[in-house]
Amino acid sequence: MNTSFVLAGHLITTPEPKAFSVLENGYLVIENGLIQGCYSSLPEKYAALPLQRYDHQLIIPGLCDIHVHAPQYAYRGLGMDLELLEWLNTHAFPEEAHYEQMEYAQKAYGQFVHDLQNSATTRASIFATLHVPATLLLTQLLEQAGMRGYVGKVNMDRNSPDNLRERDAKESLRQTEEWLTQTASFRRVRPILTPRFVPSCSDELLEGLAALRKRDHLPLQSHLSENENEIAWVKELCPAASCYADAYALRGLLEEDGSVVMAHCVHPTDGERKILKEKKVLVAHCPASNTNLCSGIAPIRRFLEEGISVGLGSDIAGGYELSMFRAMTDAVQVSKLRSCFDPLKPKPLSLSEAFYLATKGGGQLFGQVGSFEKGYQADIVVLDDSRIESARPLKVEERLERAIYLEKDVRITAKYIAGEPVKLSTPNQ
Ligand code: GUN
Ligand code: FE
Repeated sequence: MNTSFVLAGHLITTPEPKAFSVLENGYLVIENGLIQGCYSSLPEKYAALPLQRYDHQLIIPGLCDIHVHAPQYAYRGLGMDLELLEWLNTHAFPEEAHYEQMEYAQKAYGQFVHDLQNSATTRASIFATLHVPATLLLTQLLEQAGMRGYVGKVNMDRNSPDNLRERDAKESLRQTEEWLTQTASFRRVRPILTPRFVPSCSDELLEGLAALRKRDHLPLQSHLSENENEIAWVKELCPAASCYADAYALRGLLEEDGSVVMAHCVHPTDGERKILKEKKVLVAHCPASNTNLCSGIAPIRRFLEEGISVGLGSDIAGGYELSMFRAMTDAVQVSKLRSCFDPLKPKPLSLSEAFYLATKGGGQLFGQVGSFEKGYQADIVVLDDSRIESARPLKVEERLERAIYLEKDVRITAKYIAGEPVKLSTPNQ
């Protein structure tokens, strides 16, 4: 596959959160799947590369969803009036138990992958279920679709229903080893260790996963300080821990830098923020889910000021939309609500900051991803916003702003991941 080419159009990216960087009628040069550079006129030395023109269209880095539950896609939009723990018992756990049946998994994961493939998301960090065959099927479907990212077989050995619980830590670890062995042939979609959260994993299981992580240098994803009832439960289950994050740290799960993603972090104590910073944990901010499951509003401004890394997640099905455009606008909106009631009056997020979180912020989980800087993976999405009418002329940056908010009227014209074109099976008319 030729992954060296040039795209022409309006280039928009956020190398820094504070502002969009816009190059009108620019040329984006891709060499061997990596960004070579952005140019206002095409340098002679690249004149021989295949050139694809997207005149008048918006060319942006692909969006990164760093927290999404694939098996929950089938019931998205249901149970939105429940709070987290009740919602897990009523909806999430019974639904996930279905993935023991491969016929069901084939159908439901097929729908999830189809929609992800046709969205503006290029990379994702995905929770599957505890079932090894269905998790491998999901990985295979994503790989075939040209998507990239991580998929995790979930670990659960306590406080879960009989039909969605592994017998004990040893059995859960054995299943994890089997899954890891079978993921060896996948190139684009790689495994990520996925203890569901402290309440559903015994100490022995968490310690076993820490040993696996150390042995195989694996990334890890889980949930942290999402909801007040959940946090109180973790305190009961793990009295020795100084905070929820410490319950993971005590079991050795936060060692090694930069490859741990923790969803939510809505109610961090001072000590917890210190751990997040020191251990270089990436926070997956999931504003829609935090609203729907009555969890609260995460202190994202504070995280950014303190140098804690943040990306965005849809958290399907706590969030009911797969769209990372929606995650951006939700992030801006809830940050405004937070500034209304937080005595510290944190400054709301700007749209460029939210865009940064959805691209370069979350992209760091996957390497150099989420920007058009030289050496970054060529993850690119092309947007045709011509159906959004405007009586007055708009600047390119304003057009992107509207495209993000009015996404239903935007057509995704093309999508590349690591320089490979992704087939869009349902170009929205
Ligand atoms: N905590 C543990 N499991 C889950 C889940 O599936 N969704 C959310 N939002 N939080 C969780
Ligand atoms: Fe989640």
